[in-house]
Amino acid sequence: MVNKIKGEILRALRASGDYVSGEVLSKELGISRVSIWKHLRRLMQHGYVIESSPIGYRLISSPDLLLPYELPGWEHKLYHFAEVDSTMGVAKELVKKGAEEGTIVVTECQACGKGRLSREWFSPKGGIYFTLSLKPKISPVYAPRVNLMASVAVTKAIRGLFGLAAELKWPNDVLIEGRKVCGILAEMEAEMDAINFVNLGIGINANFPISQYEEGATSLKEELGKEIVRKELLSSVLREMTKQQALLTKADLLEEWKSLSATLNRDVRVVSLGEEVTGKAIDIDSNGALILKCPDNSLRNIIAGDCFHL
Ligand code: BTN
Repeated sequence: MVNKIKGEILRALRASGDYVSGEVLSKELGISRVSIWKHLRRLMQHGYVIESSPIGYRLISSPDLLLPYELPGWEHKLYHFAEVDSTMGVAKELVKKGAEEGTIVVTECQACGKGRLSREWFSPKGGIYFTLSLKPKISPVYAPRVNLMASVAVTKAIRGLFGLAAELKWPNDVLIEGRKVCGILAEMEAEMDAINFVNLGIGINANFPISQYEEGATSLKEELGKEIVRKELLSSVLREMTKQQALLTKADLLEEWKSLSATLNRDVRVVSLGEEVTGKAIDIDSNGALILKCPDNSLRNIIAGDCFHL
């Protein structure tokens, strides 16, 4: 509730672009002028510059932070941190304490960001790092589709907002011109017939300098030649994710993934459980496994692994 009110105060100040009196804010939001002042003071502590004069309040500038009030619709279940070791650990703790479906843990940077296959995920300021906690009411058999759903959502958000030709590399990297811009890590706890939770960790290389990247990676700043407004992208990814969740058990999700895929119809090498398989990626099956046509014409369904485009 408190986050929602702060969001409404910010929207009122932005809509006006000028001074708004405490009285008007108090009437619009249905709370006392003292409460309005308390919220404004808290916003200022978070880095918002708000001018106060006898005729009211004026918003001068906002910090570039992914604060809950900047993400309408999610403000009541979004936890924002300046820095954590990894949003995966924080989200897991929250789930253990009974956090509701859709809880989001966002941070400005991570000291020990986790990547797939026990790798480190470079997480300096300027990126977007979050974990979304889901409790999908689907059979654990469908669990890999949660990854597909997340990667489709990020790809569509990047395409929709910036017009960049973002594509998917199996299983769930988002690429621009062959270079990785986003990685997705899923951690799950399940019984035989039900998923307790899936924590989806998403890292997007947004606004940090190219010199900081690993080889084979890119950033949105690099691709666009300017910084992006991170809250717009996060909000768009969350909206897409909500849409895609409805498709989790449907064939449409697979079709969406295929239509955005840079992996299908390519020769690839996949390293899976210590084994290396080379072949042409011809399809994904209903659980998201990659179907390879090997040089001896045999077909292999690869459930998980590291995929290299040849
Ligand atoms: C990959 O290796 O491609 C997956 C990278 C996932 C990184 C994200 S950033 C937010 C969340 N917290 C982490 O520690 N990792 C994930």
